[in-house]
Parts: sequence; structure tokens; C-alpha cells
Amino acid sequence: MAAEPNGYEIREGYESMDFAAVQRMLETAYWCPGITLDEVERAARNSSLLLGAFHEGIQIGYLRVVSDKATFGWISDVFVEEGHRGKRLAQTMTQRALNHPEHQGFRRWVLKTRDAHAVYAVCGFRSLSDPDDWMIYVPKGRSIP
Ligand SMILES: CC(C)(COP(=O)(O)OP(=O)(O)OC[C@H]1O[C@@H](n2cnc3c(N)ncnc32)[C@H](O)[C@@H]1OP(=O)(O)O)[C@@H](O)C(=O)NCCC(=O)NCCS
Repeated sequence: MAAEPNGYEIREGYESMDFAAVQRMLETAYWCPGITLDEVERAARNSSLLLGAFHEGIQIGYLRVVSDKATFGWISDVFVEEGHRGKRLAQTMTQRALNHPEHQGFRRWVLKTRDAHAVYAVCGFRSLSDPDDWMIYVPKGRSIP
């Protein structure tokens, strides 16, 4: 189990999250600007794992996993509030997700990042060696940041 940095606590599960705080973080994120509380909660309810980083009882970090709990996992919505960055919170949450007992024996884990590759590289992620084997469908009217 990846240990929390001093002064921080990692909590797990829907009931442990402060979704108002999560929405305030994610509405500023480049991949989902303006995301609503309803969307944040719906995405969370249908995810397989939610992790939150807390400082003095206040939620300052978030990560969720979308997975079938048998073959694959997708790490999404990783966010750490500005004043708490650089303390290995994202790394700790990512490692917790990978180590989780319900997430063992997968064929692969995936995630998309614009510029935070180093965070995930520490946990063993690498860039795709076979990008031509992957496809994406973007519904009409949507754009991918
Ligand atoms: C990216 C983000 C989640 C990193 O959180 P963090 O808790 O500060 O990251 P960590 O402290 O766990 O960093 C782990 C490693 O990655 C490096 N790193 C952290 N943020 C980085 C970034 N944006 N780009 C490149 N490397 C980064 C750290 O230097 C550290 O390396 P080290 O262990 O050799 O010192 C945080 O900066 C953030 O929320 N940014 C805005 C939202 C975002 O971009 N989220 C990621 C979406 S994929």
C-alpha cells in the first residue's frame, strides 16, 4: 500500500467524497471545463473506485477509476489543488488504485494526459507503443482537449 505523505489522508468510496469540492476542482480542469455537480456525481457513482486526498479534513485531491474489475482499468479525473502539489499525492493515489485488491490481474491500465506523464511514469505507465492499434470516437459537437 502506498503511504500517504505526512499530514494527508487518502479516503476511498462514494460516501467519503466531498463532491462540491471535487466539482470546484474539476470545473477548472482542461479536460472537463465547466463540468457540473450532477455530471461529477453521476460519473463517480458509475466508477469502480474513487479516491480522495484530504488535508485537515478538507478534500484537496481526487482520482477515479473506471474498470470492469477483471480485465482493464482507466484512471481519470486526477486533480490535486495547487497549494498541495509536489507532495506525491497524485502518485500515491495512482499507486493505491493500481494496488487495490479489486484491481488485480488486469490485462492493461490506460489513461490520457496532456503534460503530467511523469506522475504516472513513476507508477510504471509508459506511452503507447502501438498507437495505431487504438481508436477513438468523439460524438458530434464534442471536442477533445
Ligand atoms: C498533475 C497533478 C495531478 C500532479 O499532482 P501532484 O500531487 O503534484 O503530483 P506528485 O507530487 O504525485 O508527482 C509525482 C511525480 O510527477 C512529477 N510531476 C508532478 N506534476 C507534474 C506535471 N504536471 N508534469 C510533469 N511532471 C509532474 C513530480 O515532480 C513527481 O516526480 P518526483 O517523484 O520525481 O518528484 C497536479 O499538478 C494537478 O492536479 N494538475 C492540474 C490537473 C491535471 O493536470 N491533472 C492531471 C490530468 S492527467
